[in-house]
Amino acid sequence: MIKLTERLMAAASQVRPGAVLADVGTDHAYLPVYLLEQGICRRAVASDLREGPLAHARRTVENSGFAERVKLVLCDGLEAVPHDVTDIVIAGMGGETILSILKAAPFVKQGDKRLILQPMTDLPLVRRSLADDGFAIVRETLAVEQGRFYVVMTLHYAGQPQNLGFREQYLIGPCEAPAEIVRRYLAKLRRKYAIQAEGLRRSATEQSDRLRLLDEILAEITKMEGELEDESA
Ligand SMILES: C[S@@+](CC[C@H](N)C(=O)[O-])C[C@H]1O[C@@H](n2cnc3c(N)ncnc32)[C@H](O)[C@@H]1O
Repeated sequence: MIKLTERLMAAASQVRPGAVLADVGTDHAYLPVYLLEQGICRRAVASDLREGPLAHARRTVENSGFAERVKLVLCDGLEAVPHDVTDIVIAGMGGETILSILKAAPFVKQGDKRLILQPMTDLPLVRRSLADDGFAIVRETLAVEQGRFYVVMTLHYAGQPQNLGFREQYLIGPCEAPAEIVRRYLAKLRRKYAIQAEGLRRSATEQSDRLRLLDEILAEITKMEGELEDESA
């Protein structure tokens, strides 16, 4: 039986029962095999760009007894993934890579598909681009693994550009993670953005727009921390 890490478990928990899964950048194919073992997905497509990870995936799938229900595909993103998949997971990749994979696959906007994304970087850009492109966030959570925080979000195509608040873009939207985890995540973001702001203040380069944005983010963190404190009082 496959045991997933907290990060992959957070992604797995957003896959709908009965789904036909696509796991893009599957590496060891732990996610699809776990979801088949648990009876959550009906069948899966596990894709990867590189031969090495796909060979790992093949080994996991062959040892699992689910080989007939997993299609292994060597391709870039969703290029050769059949369009009848319902739930598409793209985890453990940079935000820009995720966006370019989605942009190259307009079929993700068809029917009732769900995107379950776990970007490693560029979260504000990912959120902004997808909202502008008509995707709405359905669920969002935070996973913590060895002190690192990972945002996992589910989106569906809503057909028109979505409003996205400042907080939702730069911090986090309504989130399923416990308040304590959100508090720790905000503290981490505060440290990161405060260091960036301090660096800019010291540098001679003129970056006042970026500095203004960082100050706005830091103020929003303070506001959100206050709200979380009020809620727990
Ligand atoms: C860090 S691993 C993440 C594996 C797994 N998804 C996870 O979250 O644990 C990234 C995987 O994505 C694959 N990958 C990177 N770019 C890709 C692309 N454009 N299309 C498909 N797979 C890609 C890599 O080969 C690698 O196996």
